[in-house]
Amino acid sequence: MTAHAPATVTPNAAPLGATTRREPRMLTGDRPTGRLHLGHYVGSLANRVRLQATYESFFIIADLHMLTTKNSRADIAAVSQNARDMVLDSLAAGLEPGRSVFFLQSAVPEISEITLLLSSLVTVPRLERIPSLKEMAHDAGKEEMPFALLGYPVLQAADILSVRADAVPVGRDNAAHVEVAREIARRFNRLYGPVFPVPELVHADVPSLPGTDGVNKMSKSLGNAIYLSDSAAEVSRKVAGMYTDPNRTRADVPGTVEGNPVFAYHDAFSDRPGEVAELKDRYRAGRIGDVEVKARLAEAINRFLRPVRQRRARFAADPGMVDELIVSGTGRMRREARQTLAAMRGAMGLTTAFASFHRSTASSNGGPVSPRP
Ligand code: TRP
Repeated sequence: MTAHAPATVTPNAAPLGATTRREPRMLTGDRPTGRLHLGHYVGSLANRVRLQATYESFFIIADLHMLTTKNSRADIAAVSQNARDMVLDSLAAGLEPGRSVFFLQSAVPEISEITLLLSSLVTVPRLERIPSLKEMAHDAGKEEMPFALLGYPVLQAADILSVRADAVPVGRDNAAHVEVAREIARRFNRLYGPVFPVPELVHADVPSLPGTDGVNKMSKSLGNAIYLSDSAAEVSRKVAGMYTDPNRTRADVPGTVEGNPVFAYHDAFSDRPGEVAELKDRYRAGRIGDVEVKARLAEAINRFLRPVRQRRARFAADPGMVDELIVSGTGRMRREARQTLAAMRGAMGLTTAFASFHRSTASSNGGPVSPRP
């Protein structure tokens, strides 16, 4: 047996890319849950915007993954609008439409076939040890693990490997899934020949942003989110209602900065570090009221959101644009996935298996049936 190649970020580790030297690729994405908020920005969008200069970027709208915990007709009916909102928010945040391939997972059936072929390369106990899957089952109120949810990382591996991605930027909750994809890629290459680059995990190593309630992380379902699409007035209203140091009954009582979400947001979004440092000093000394600290925060967030709003307005002025991007991106993705699937079937010997029947029927049937593409 030959030693297999070490993990690499070099593109073209696979023969598929070997003829035309291509740009390194990344793939990441989300389940279609709707509008994006400041927590998404800090946790993933900022990183995606930064990485797009280096990587050809594929963004999945993972509706098949959504089905593993949410599969009602209503959930499915909401996918289109949620997908549009997510793509528009991503563009508003700074992803360039010309460099980004947005695609709808369920419209790329090749991914499902790739999932099936990969599923022989991972064991049930390996998947059962992944804590995030148990958490997802629990959060969705499932007493027993759905088969599809256990296979969630295998489906994710198929997404990643179908574009032969070199890098996968995800948060902590998805790191274990990317590890499974890496194992599967190595195992496939060792067993059948080098088809896949082993994708690198790119950590979005930022602490998660607390919600306006200061208790939980920012999340749509908890009603503690500030959205990228919120108006300036909505931002001011939400900031005014934010949780802050509860022990502070008056402006002249010294306040606590550490763990105070108002200051966590100042740190995350203000473009004026000098102002933030001064506000913190005065807060600790009991020389500033919460109302003023919050008013400055609302201004800082609104300054941060100004270019986001401008881009959103520009893209929203062309109403068919987002839909067209999703359609063309999905077409592009299908071509990639079809190539990958053909390479996989070829490497595995499945193409040859079926071709042998063609040879034997060609003589009796008066001609060859066209082989599977
Ligand atoms: N699992 C991701 C989530 O938490 C979504 C996703 C599906 C994904 N396929 C992916 C992320 C491939 C990165 C790469 O919603």
